[in-house]
This record gives sequence, structure tokens and C-alpha cells, in this order.
Amino acid sequence: MVKESGMMELARTNNCNELDSDYIGETVVVAGWVQRTRDHGSLLFVDLRDRSGIVQLVFSTKIAEEAFKIAESLGQEDVIAVRGLIRKRPAENVNADLPTGEIEIMGEEIELLSASDTPPFLIEDGVKAGEDLRLEYRYLDLRRPEMLETVKIKHQVMQTTRKFLSDNGYWEVETPILTRSTPEGARDYLVPSRLHRGKFYALPQSPQLFKQILMASGVEKYFQIARCFRDEDLRANRQPEFTQIDIEISFPNLVDFKAEMEELIRQIFAINDIVFPNKVPSLSYQEAMDWYGSDSPDTRFGLKIRDLSAIFADSEFRVFSSTIAEGGTVRALKVKEGASFSRSQLDKLEEKVKEYGAKGLAWLAFTESEIKSPIVKFLSEEEIARLRQQLEIEQGDLVLIVASDYKTAVTSLGQLRLLLAEKLDLIPANQYNLLWIEDFPLFSYNEEEARYEAEHHPFTAPLEEDIELLEENPDQVRAAAYDLVLNGEEIGGGSLRINNKELQSKVFSLLNMSAEEAQEKFGFLLQAFEYGTPPHGGIAFGLDRIIMILSGRNSIRDVIAFPKTQRATSPMTKAPGKVSRKQLEELNLEISAEE
Ligand code: AMO
Ligand code: AMP
Repeated sequence: MVKESGMMELARTNNCNELDSDYIGETVVVAGWVQRTRDHGSLLFVDLRDRSGIVQLVFSTKIAEEAFKIAESLGQEDVIAVRGLIRKRPAENVNADLPTGEIEIMGEEIELLSASDTPPFLIEDGVKAGEDLRLEYRYLDLRRPEMLETVKIKHQVMQTTRKFLSDNGYWEVETPILTRSTPEGARDYLVPSRLHRGKFYALPQSPQLFKQILMASGVEKYFQIARCFRDEDLRANRQPEFTQIDIEISFPNLVDFKAEMEELIRQIFAINDIVFPNKVPSLSYQEAMDWYGSDSPDTRFGLKIRDLSAIFADSEFRVFSSTIAEGGTVRALKVKEGASFSRSQLDKLEEKVKEYGAKGLAWLAFTESEIKSPIVKFLSEEEIARLRQQLEIEQGDLVLIVASDYKTAVTSLGQLRLLLAEKLDLIPANQYNLLWIEDFPLFSYNEEEARYEAEHHPFTAPLEEDIELLEENPDQVRAAAYDLVLNGEEIGGGSLRINNKELQSKVFSLLNMSAEEAQEKFGFLLQAFEYGTPPHGGIAFGLDRIIMILSGRNSIRDVIAFPKTQRATSPMTKAPGKVSRKQLEELNLEISAEE
């Protein structure tokens, strides 16, 4: 009985969700999917769903026999079009939870446009199906209202972004997908060239180089909603293929530029009525690391990291004093009401800091009667008194201490801080803390490879006043770089760029890149600097992360229509896939071992 032609005879007049008591007495045509059916003998009820919502259809045995037969045969997810008269529901059948709950459509004509097999999971919010199954049947998953909602929000965010930037003088410019490596710190996705044997294109990790070239080209204000490709370890907030709102301007005034970017973010979040305070606070990178052990701190709750080194420099407890003597530090968190934690809870906390490289987690529990602690016997009265004073200890407090090198101490406690916030339910709902992080170091030291790396990317300008430190103390040079952080998530990052060849070459050489290598990889940029390139700078926002927070989801896979799994596969298309021998031959490639 399914229509073979795929053509509709009934012409749709309305979306399901817009039908309410204003329409009583009108005849309409609606179309969509069967959510569920209930058979009451002479009356048959069908919930019809389209992307706008749900409306109730009623079929009675009084209509044409053929039409009733179709109605009777309907199952979940069948696609139909129905013409019918809108009537008021009897009072006892009114559904106050549905916008259309006061009315129903008395079906007169019906077309079965496509029949559905029984779907592998229910098409409804909060479905329990595993993620692989949801991704394999993504078209069913996306039909669920909460998923379609994120698709819609993303569309709205892109429209808002385009309008805002366009109104402010930015031009949208496309840049190549088949290109050369852009250094953003991840592995490249490579595409072999057929015409040039042994050569490869790289998919862009970001449009960074092109947007700088566009500044050399006189575009002055550029943006792009750009796809970026990074072969890196995936997490809940990372995808191998993701989208940036990518922005660059010439002749930048940083204060105005950041204010403009704040306004863009305000307009985006206004889509879901999320409002930020007038003044967006900022922290230096150093403050963020000292207090939160992270360069994207979640400031929705306190639990700041404290420095106890001054108290324990000469301690009898060698773990502390020798760590300090070796240039390390002793840092702590004070947990209110934490003194009642059990031994096994404390062990879990210790496991957490060990995951991040700490050797142990010392603790002191200030209970009513005593200080419980495995290390209290090593500490002097004076040390304990100073600790009480510095941390303003009250009865019931728990102090958690890591002695280590600076980076390990703050990052492990920073992670512990997040774990405690979750366990103790410290994160207030519906709070949105937007925050700039500034004055990043220009370089970070890669211990394994014993060399400096760019903390942001190699085109980032050093702060003017720190340029003189480049030669002697590169690790003290701060960058003109900034990140925008929201609720502990880095939603954007950018910088002022270098626009002269000498400084750029100097930075390349500090990064252990030979002049030849720099020429080979970025020669076109260095050359552009020789033909008048204005001062410039910009930023890129992680669009998917923004949508994730805006729509209250925990994973960016939920806000990308067709995402990859944690193992970078697509259960629906089965990408990545094998290719034919002929294709390999054309590309002059050989596979040495298969998975
Ligand atoms: P950066 O590498 O910091 O900067 O990226 C900018 C923003 O993109 C988002 N992001 C990601 N989102 C999802 N999955 C990923 N794998 C992923 N990686 C990054 C983050 C991040 O803040 N060219 C520079 C920008 C510039 O200097 O203008 C760049 O790409 O939200
Ligand atoms: P130990 O003497 O090794 O049994 O350690 C005594 C206590 O100190 C235990 O609670 C350890 O978890 C803790 N501890 C050990 N090393 C460190 C460290 N580097 N920082 C903080 N606490 C530590």
C-alpha cells in the first residue's frame, strides 16, 4: 500500500506543532512519522511527529474503508500524510504537556509514503541505546527531538555568527582543504597525490597560514566557519574533524577586538537566553595555573590551590622539605567538611593525583577530637599552627597535599579539584563563567624531545617587553596570546602574530627549525612579510564546543550531525574503509600490513 512513486498527492499545509485551538474547524494536511498508535476498536489514535513536534490524529471506522485500513496497519516510524478536520479534544483527553494537546485531527484521507521496519531503538529523548548503535543508525538518532534541537541550534549559531561578523565588516573567505601541513600541534591527515608520485596534501589543522596570507592580501577583516582536521587522541570535547569560527584582522587594537569577540559570544549564547556579566574577567596564565592547576579553569566553584612551601621548607617530614630543597613545591587543597571522608575515599583521591604524576597525596583531617593523618607525627606544632592559620582551618576541614615539581603539583591538584567538585556537587547549575586567560608563555619545554615547542603556534608574537629575553631566557618570554574559557572548557584561542621575517625566523630557530626547513614549509609566509604585511591578529572559536555548552550536552559528538567515534571511525558509513588495488596503484601506494 506504500506509494510507489514517492510523490505526495496530499499537499502539506501545516507543521504539527503549530496546530492549536485557533485552528478548530479547519481542514489541514500534515505529514511526518508515526510516533505511536493506540487502537480503541472503532477509534484509532496516532501520534504524528514532524521536526516541529507532535499532533494527535484520530481515525474512525466511519471514514472510507481503504483509508481506515491504512490507518490500522500503521507502525512506528512509518511516514504518512493525512488530511483532516481539527476538532477540540474532549476535556478528559486534553494533554497539558503538549502545545497541541487541546486539539486533535479527525483523519479523512491518508497516504502511506514510506513504511518503516521496527527501529532498533525508540525515537524519543533520553534513549538508553549504546552510542555505537546510535551512530550506526544516525538518521534515527537525529530524529529524536533533543538531537534535532542541537542541529537547529547549530544552524542558528552559524546564522548569528555570519550576521554579526558581516555587520561588523568581516568578509567570509574560503581557504583550501587540500593543502600543506599547518602546525597546530597535532598529527596531520594526509591525502596522497595521484599526479605527483610520493607527494601528499595535508588537510588543514586550521586555516592559520591562509588567514595570515589574507591579511597580507589586504582583506583586513576575515572570517570563516572552517573545518579543521587533527589526528589526535580523542576525548569528549575533541573530534578529528571539527569546526572553528575562524577570525583575523589587520591593524588590531586588542582591547576593541576582544570586546567585539565578547559581543559575538554574547549574541551566540543569547540564543538560549544565557547572559554573561558585563565585564568578562581575565586571569594570567600564571594565576590560572597557581590557583586552578589548569589553563582552562572552571571558576564556577572555589577550592583554589594553596602554596604551603613556606611552612614546610625546613620540615622534619623529608618528603616535603627535600622536595622544596630540590626546587619543587608543596601545594594543597582545603576541602570543607572533608574530614569525614573514609579511607577508601581518600585512596581514590590519591589514585587521581598519581594518574597525573604525583608520588602521593598526604592528608590531614581536622575532626572534632583530633587531627587524623598519616603524616601528622612528622609535623611540628609550629607547622600545624601555621597551616591552620594560613588555610583558616575550621573543624571538619580536610587538607590534601602534594609535594612535587611545580607543574605536577598544580596539575594533579587541579584534576583532583575537578573530581572533588563533581563528588561534592559544588558546581552550580545554570551558571556560565566566561573568562579570558592571557600572557601565556610563548614556548613550552618538551622534556621527552628536549626542545622548545610553541605553546600556541609558531606565528604568535611575543609580548613587546619580553622580546629581549628571547635569546637568553626563552622560557620566560610571554606571548601576546589569549584564550577564552567557559565553565572550564577552552572555547577559543588566538594571538597577535609576528609580521616580520627576522623575528619569525628567530622563533623558528628557537623551535629547532632550520632555515631550510622553515623555508620549505612556510617560505610563502616569510616571503609575504617582505612585501608589506600589516600587523595582524585573530582568534578561532571551537564551534562544536560552544554548541555543546549552549545546549547543555556533555559530549561534542552529540552536537555534530555525523561525528566519529572515540576510535575515529564512522559506524554508519564504515569510514575509514579499504580501497581497491587499482586505486592504490594509481596513487603508487602499497600497504605493508593490514589491521
Ligand atoms: P586552537 O588550536 O586553540 O587555535 O583552536 C581553536 C579552538 O578550536 C577548538 N578545538 C577543537 N574542538 C574540537 N575538537 C578538536 N580536536 C579541537 N581542537 C581545537 C577549541 C580551541 O579553543 N589557528 C589557531 C587560532 C588562532 O590563533 O587564531 C587555532 O587553531 O575550542
Ligand atoms: P610514605 O612515608 O611514603 O608512606 O608516605 C606517607 C604519606 O605521605 C602517605 O600518605 C603518602 O601518600 C604521602 N606522600 C608520599 N609522597 C608524597 C608526595 N610527593 N606528596 C604528598 N604526599 C606524599
